[in-house]
Amino acid sequence: MFQAVLFDLDGVITETSEYHYQAWKMLASGLGIKLNRAVNEQLKGVSREDSLKIILRYGGRENDFSESEFQALAAKKNNYYVESIQNVSPKDLFPGIAALLEELQTHQIKIALASASKNGSFLIERLGIKDYFDAIADPSQVEHGKPAPDIFLAAASKIGVSPDKCIGVEDAAAGIAAIKAAGMLPVGVGSPNVLGEDIAIVTTTAALTFNYLKKVWSE
Ligand code: BG6
Ligand code: MG
Repeated sequence: MFQAVLFDLDGVITETSEYHYQAWKMLASGLGIKLNRAVNEQLKGVSREDSLKIILRYGGRENDFSESEFQALAAKKNNYYVESIQNVSPKDLFPGIAALLEELQTHQIKIALASASKNGSFLIERLGIKDYFDAIADPSQVEHGKPAPDIFLAAASKIGVSPDKCIGVEDAAAGIAAIKAAGMLPVGVGSPNVLGEDIAIVTTTAALTFNYLKKVWSE
């Protein structure tokens, strides 16, 4: 049996991936870059700095900013984003997530957050689910962002569970790659076109139940 479930946050627990997109779009449009959802798909799960690099490259502006200007742009995006999440509340939890956390806790399965977001701790507090989490991996302490396995390995290490006893839940291609690289079992939220045909995928988090995870684990 699996002993832990490691959750991504944005796009898995709540719809904040849309807020990230809107914040990037606003920043990009100020730079004369028109973002679209196809480009945004590459940003999902990716750190703030790496996302900005992808956007500047996409807009052909990767050589236009000094290091301090780059950092200022990243901070500006974060300000837009932080403003948009101030009113997040428990009713913004995706369907089934509260019930799943409760079930996992009842069955003594450890729960950890493996989000690339430095706003993760604030959000799970706002969502009213912080107490379920045995650990929150700190993205500022890992060397490589997703698709590297670091954040998932850090989460597993914090709860003292071996990676081969962990399930990772993700909505981003970079995140699924990170879970696989960590030697964990991936469960995707979204579509096989984006996440791959070779893994278990739910189209809605309402389908993410303890029984479903047990079934996926035993297959
Ligand atoms: C990930 C999101 O969870 O966190 C990305 O999918 C985001 O879109 C990344 O860029 C970093 O988030 P933050 O809040 O630290 O800028
Ligand atoms: Mg995500």
